[in-house]
Amino acid sequence: MKKLFSIFALATSLAVQAQEPLVIREMKMQQGDNMAWKEMKADDSQWKTISVTSNWDNQGYRMDDTFVWFRKTIRIPKSMLDKSDQKGDVLFDLGEIDDADEAFLNGKRIGKTGRFPSDEGGYSSNWSARRHYHVAANQINWDGDNVLAIRVYNGGYPGGIVSQGLRISVPNSMNSVDTRFSETLPEGKKLADCKVSIANRSTQSVKADVEITATNLETGKVLNRVTKRGVTLGKKPYESVVQYDRQQMVRLDVTCRNAKSGATTTSTHIPKYILTPDAPATPRYNGPLVFGVRPGSPVIFRLPFSGERPMKYTVKGLPDGVTYDADKGTLSGKTDIPGDYRLTLIAENAKGKTEQTFTLKVGGTIGLTPPMGWNSWNCWGLSVSQERVLSSARALIDKGLADYGYSYINIDDAWEAAERNADGSIACNEKFPDIKGLADWLHSEGLKMGIYSSPGDYTCGRYLGSIDHEQQDAQTYNEWGVDYLKYDWCGYGSEFGRYNDHSHAGYIAPYALMGRFLRQQPRDIFYSLCQYGMDDVWKWGEFVDANSWRTTGDITDTWQSLYDIGFNRQPELYPYAKPGHWNDPDMLIVGKVGWSDRLRDSRLTPDEQYTHISLWSLLASNMLIGCDIAQMDEFTRSLLCNNEVNAINQDILGAQAKRVVLDGEVQIWMRDLADGSKALGVFNLGTELLTVDCVKYAGQLGIIHRPSQVRDLWRQKDLPLNTTSLVIPAHGVKLLKVRF
Ligand code: GLA
Repeated sequence: MKKLFSIFALATSLAVQAQEPLVIREMKMQQGDNMAWKEMKADDSQWKTISVTSNWDNQGYRMDDTFVWFRKTIRIPKSMLDKSDQKGDVLFDLGEIDDADEAFLNGKRIGKTGRFPSDEGGYSSNWSARRHYHVAANQINWDGDNVLAIRVYNGGYPGGIVSQGLRISVPNSMNSVDTRFSETLPEGKKLADCKVSIANRSTQSVKADVEITATNLETGKVLNRVTKRGVTLGKKPYESVVQYDRQQMVRLDVTCRNAKSGATTTSTHIPKYILTPDAPATPRYNGPLVFGVRPGSPVIFRLPFSGERPMKYTVKGLPDGVTYDADKGTLSGKTDIPGDYRLTLIAENAKGKTEQTFTLKVGGTIGLTPPMGWNSWNCWGLSVSQERVLSSARALIDKGLADYGYSYINIDDAWEAAERNADGSIACNEKFPDIKGLADWLHSEGLKMGIYSSPGDYTCGRYLGSIDHEQQDAQTYNEWGVDYLKYDWCGYGSEFGRYNDHSHAGYIAPYALMGRFLRQQPRDIFYSLCQYGMDDVWKWGEFVDANSWRTTGDITDTWQSLYDIGFNRQPELYPYAKPGHWNDPDMLIVGKVGWSDRLRDSRLTPDEQYTHISLWSLLASNMLIGCDIAQMDEFTRSLLCNNEVNAINQDILGAQAKRVVLDGEVQIWMRDLADGSKALGVFNLGTELLTVDCVKYAGQLGIIHRPSQVRDLWRQKDLPLNTTSLVIPAHGVKLLKVRF
């Protein structure tokens, strides 16, 4: 393995080193809300002591929908100020605060993030924002006592201050410089723009020389270098736009140097780049080769053909009772007669015509390939509404994702009313004025609707669960036209929940109960278990009629989370995946996510996103898009709409990949495919670009003779058969299909 570049050079400050920060790991805590608690003289002697490195739920407290105050008296040494090349600014890094906060130093406000219920616009969580509050140096009692007071509002589980210790430091003149990058990939254009914005979070502005270098990461060639001298870096960002070929892997290095003191900060970024080739204008089939429906259940299926519109469809071989719509390309109706119906799907447009053979399997098993679609949680969290769901559903069609088999539109938590109807049936809250209308519209487009509940009194978001109403809820889902249920343990197991039988049977019981009632409905409801993998759910999920089961806790848009869930927690699970029953490592974290009404670009690098989609395809995972599709850019669309990559996920053999090579930073996962070939993911989990010697692993992969075809699935190009090494970027992947 040859190390070429280190692409994860963190933003660093050289030349002038500021003193080590003061770190606070514990504070005093009191539930309630009293503005007098911000004052230095307030008495906190009776308050409890709590760690600020973990949420309070982890420390045995449950405080929801409430204010909690934190206080700490701190002595701040003046030597910190003396060691910096600037004297005006002190940084309070408070980590993440769940959900909104207002911080005070010596009685004066120093920062606020998120909104409290009484604020204009109402409560809004911003738990994941890093709290960096800058305080003028003359506000500090140097070498004396200072009181930091933080007013926190938590809207729902979990809550508290989650940091690596609150850090108080006097940054040097460059430490507070914050460089951000954002790409625009205009539709159909070869060149993309990456905007570099350099702001200074300090209360003082600073003059710097700024250098921006663009390098082709694969060849090492410097493409462009621009230097600008004497730039004023202040609150208003300095901006520069770099153009790059959107199909090239480019690295941008930005260096800012204080000409006077020599303090320097650098940051590095790889802008989004597109590997998936454009789809042809002629019709092309991009979906699964099989669809399962139970006898008597409505068939809901949209033919996933890409290509220029308008398109005309013909379907041959349908059983009596099932029909197609020639303009929309949807199947509907039902049949009572089990069997494998061999269909021919035909699509024609002005540019050409194509035919695809396909099996409609009318029998006992649904979910014959992993479900593909969208779920509201990773973007909207509890701020989901019918309008937001509809907007993603429309975009799923308009942006062509439905032409790649994405068909479920799933509403996660926060659709439920505060109370049940008088007859005990579940109702929607005011954000969902017409759920049946929504389902009807989705069905008319050949799409399916999913919903969310819990076997407990409460869901994770503290909405009503299904306990004591399981049968009634299953009936309501049928009346509304629900096609997917995510059933989330949460409130069932909480300290208020009714979970008391800790045996194997105790874990199974609530899921078996709902499974039974879902099966009694005259429609197919994909049953998705969400209990984070407890009691080895993969060993019994199938027997409660589950079609998939979450294998871990919640994913978030960081490499650490992706690595832990994807690479650490899945290797042993392959024996349990098969058509109709899938391991679910949680929803996708590409595109604009945020778990609230504040969305941001996924924090994964482009290569981490290629790794994510490749691994989920190899793992035969549920493919539920977690971002707002209406705001989806070309890069994210290209990640989700690569027909050759998706074909791995949807392969009808349903064999989940095994990890066959684990060699330092290199992992190779291999999956058997229905046509006898193999899908191979060669991953580089390290932080440096690597050249992986494939010959070295031939034995472990069971490759005894030269393959007849090796295809790079992202680029959709065959590789030369004498390829012996692969260049793989940091946290990146080569996804291959190998035929022998
Ligand atoms: C749990 C689940 C998430 C989401 C939330 C909703 O955390 O694991 O996927 O459904 O609950 O409250």
